[in-house]
Amino acid sequence: MTSAAAAAATSSATKMFSTATDNCSHRIFLVTDLQVRRPWRSSAFLRTSRTICTHACTAASPRSSSSVINELANIFTAMATEASAKVIDGKSVAKEIREEIASEISRMKESIGVVPGLAVILVGDRKDSATYVRNKKKACESVGIKSYEVCLAEDSSEQEVLKYISGFNDDPSVNGILVQLPLPSHMNEQNVLTAVSIEKDVDGFNPLNIGCLAMRDREPLFVPCTPKGCIELLHRYGVPIKGKRAVVIGRSNIVGMPAALLLQREDATVSVVHSRTKNPEEITREADIVIAAVGQANMVRGSWIKPGSVVIDVGINPVEDAESKRGYRLAGDVCYEEASKIASAITPVPGGVGPMTIAMLLSNTLAAAKRANNFQ
Ligand code: GUN
Repeated sequence: MTSAAAAAATSSATKMFSTATDNCSHRIFLVTDLQVRRPWRSSAFLRTSRTICTHACTAASPRSSSSVINELANIFTAMATEASAKVIDGKSVAKEIREEIASEISRMKESIGVVPGLAVILVGDRKDSATYVRNKKKACESVGIKSYEVCLAEDSSEQEVLKYISGFNDDPSVNGILVQLPLPSHMNEQNVLTAVSIEKDVDGFNPLNIGCLAMRDREPLFVPCTPKGCIELLHRYGVPIKGKRAVVIGRSNIVGMPAALLLQREDATVSVVHSRTKNPEEITREADIVIAAVGQANMVRGSWIKPGSVVIDVGINPVEDAESKRGYRLAGDVCYEEASKIASAITPVPGGVGPMTIAMLLSNTLAAAKRANNFQ
């Protein structure tokens, strides 16, 4: 390609996107308008397209080349496939799990006259945390777990939280203790999480449980609920993990880090992509399994996804939406419209990982109650 042609390619690509917003669905309309169909559906075509774009854009404008390359790769990737990914339906899997748990709790109640108990401590007035806690309480009721709730003011002291934890640690009717995170910034999260007895640590956040998760030949008593839910979805949908390449995007204590440890325990080869990773797209494009947990709406574009991979989207991000009654809608970390045309299976948002987190909390609480009561 001559440099004049390359310059023209770059300029027309830039023009194409000058009117697009950051919302990935706008770009899909544009691609759909091209009305390109199946002849383009091949990974060889994709590779060639990317190579041409890379050469063209680098020659024309070295400084802006990578963003243009990505945009073009998005177009070509979307052209190459039609919506084909299987939807991994976390909502219906979670319902199935809740039914299994409810029937186990009935059996326990009939046999030893005991039901599991879960204590939830909420500090402060974050709306999202209040919603999560309300949903957890509702889910407990739906399966027969007795829930205990403590709501403390934002300016409560760490001592007060520790006092409640100590009370619940000593209370035999409480089998699981959950302190909703994040805590207000004046509290030391490590002190609080370490105070939860490991036998009641249904969140799996006590460093002893996380330590066992990280070590070979050790078994944690509990595994953090969101990553456990991600793996459960892969299992229930028959996605092979052993020997596969997995990429976890995000390295939080709650999701990214334990998700990577869990995948490694399942014999995947795991890479963790984070805010300082130099080439997140390239690394993610190698993955057979992607778990995205960054908390940034639509950050993972179609061009990041290897054709045929399985995508688990943990993100639940509110984005402005004037057409919605609430004025916002929920979007994942992955641009669903793009990725669902490339992946072989993908979780939606909402209705993917979210309901699984709560189902895993119920499952951990039931396991804690069985262990405490020596009930098989
Ligand atoms: N905040 C966001 N996710 C979680 C979770 O899984 N457990 C707790 N305790 N807090 C959270």
